[in-house]
Amino acid sequence: MTTAADQVLSVEAAHILQVYKRLPLVLVRGAGARVTDCDGREYIDLLSGIGVVSLGHGHTGLTRAIAAQAEELLHTSNLFFHPLQGQLAARLSRLSGLPRAFFCNSGTEAVEACLKFARRYWHTAGSRGRTEIVAFERAFHGRTFGSLSVTSGAPYREPFAPLVPGVRFVPPDDPEALRAAVTSATAAVIVEPIQGEGGVWPLSRTMADALTAVCEETGTLLIADEIQCGLGRTGRPFHSAALGLRPDLMALGKALGGGVPVGAALLSERVAANVAFGDHGSTYGGNLLACRAALVFVDALENGLTERVAEAGAHLERGLRRLAAQHATVGEIRGAGLMRGFEVAPEVADGIVAAGLERGVIVNRTAGTVVRLLPPLTISDADIDEGLARLGAALEDAS
Ligand SMILES: Cc1ncc(COP(=O)(O)O)c(C=O)c1O
Repeated sequence: MTTAADQVLSVEAAHILQVYKRLPLVLVRGAGARVTDCDGREYIDLLSGIGVVSLGHGHTGLTRAIAAQAEELLHTSNLFFHPLQGQLAARLSRLSGLPRAFFCNSGTEAVEACLKFARRYWHTAGSRGRTEIVAFERAFHGRTFGSLSVTSGAPYREPFAPLVPGVRFVPPDDPEALRAAVTSATAAVIVEPIQGEGGVWPLSRTMADALTAVCEETGTLLIADEIQCGLGRTGRPFHSAALGLRPDLMALGKALGGGVPVGAALLSERVAANVAFGDHGSTYGGNLLACRAALVFVDALENGLTERVAEAGAHLERGLRRLAAQHATVGEIRGAGLMRGFEVAPEVADGIVAAGLERGVIVNRTAGTVVRLLPPLTISDADIDEGLARLGAALEDAS
C-alpha cells in the first residue's frame, strides 16, 4: 500500500533538485516545541527548523498577525513607504545599538549585504585598496558567492571556485594570526560570536578582545554574524555584546521572522553614511508580511523571552551534563542558552539523528560528530526534559 509519506517522497525524488539529503519524515503540523508527521506521530523539536521557529510552532500571536496582515496588505516593494519597516528598524536599533537597517529575506543575503556595505564604506572613504575580508576557519556564513567566499569549508567552496578574491582565513583561537592577517588592505573582519554550523564553538574572550583591539587599532570594520546565535538564542539580544564586541555591521536572519523569511543587515551610522541610493536592494526585502511577523517576535523578545531563554538554557545545560554522565558516547558540551552542541563518539554520530527520530526527537548533526540543539526559544522545561530523555534512548540505540 502506498502511504501519504511515500507519495510525497516519490514526487520529491522526481522533481526537487537533490541538494538536500532529507530525512524520511513528512511534517504536517506543530504546536509549541512539538511537530507531527503525516502518519500522526509526534516529535519533540529540538531544532526548530535550524533555529528559525523562535516562538514555537503555531504561535497564536504570530499566526493572527500574519493572517491580519495578509488581509490588509502583503507587499508594496521598496519603491514606497509602509509603516512597519521603520518600526522594526527602530526596535532592532534599540536592541543592537546599530541605528540603521537594510531588510532582506535570508541570512545569506544579510551577510552579502554586510560585505557589500563594508566594501562600499572604504570606497566612499577614499581607501579603495581596503577590499579584503578576514574570516575564521570553521566559519559558515551562507552559500551565495559573497557569503560562500567567507565560509571556510572546502566542500562548500571548491565546486564553485573561483570565489570572491581577497579573503583570508585565520584560526579562531589564534590572536597573533588574526593580528597578522589584518592589514591596510582589510575592509572588515567577519565573525560568528558562536560558530554554529562549524560545530557550536563559542569565540573565546581572549579572541574577542584581540578582535576588538585589532579593529580599533586599524579602523577595520567588524561584522558580527548573529544569524544563528543572535536574537535571544543565548539569553541576551545579541551574543556579540556578551563578548564585549562592538560590531559596525550585524547580519540577522533565522529567528527574526519566527518562520516567515526575513533577514536584516544592521549598520552603524559611520558605515550607513557612506552608502548611497542604488547601492543595494531587494524586491521582497522588509515587506509588510515579513516586518509584521518580525515585530511580533521582537515584542516577545522584549517582554520576557530573553530572560526565559536564560533560564531554559541553564536547564538544558544541566540536562546535557546529566546525559553526558549517563552515556559514555557523549563528549564535550559547548554553547550558551538554547544554542548547544555536544560531541559524540564517531560510531554514534552516523546514526544519532535517525535514532532520535525513531525515539520521537528531532536533533541535528553538524561538523561530523557534533549533535546540535536549537529548540524554539519558548520551549518548556518539561519538553526539554522529555526531549533529552528521548535523546538518551537514541544514544543507546545508536551505539
Ligand atoms: C551563522 C550563519 N550565517 C549565515 C547563514 C545563512 O543563512 P540562510 O540559510 O538563512 O541563508 C547561516 C545558516 O545556517 C548561519 O548559521
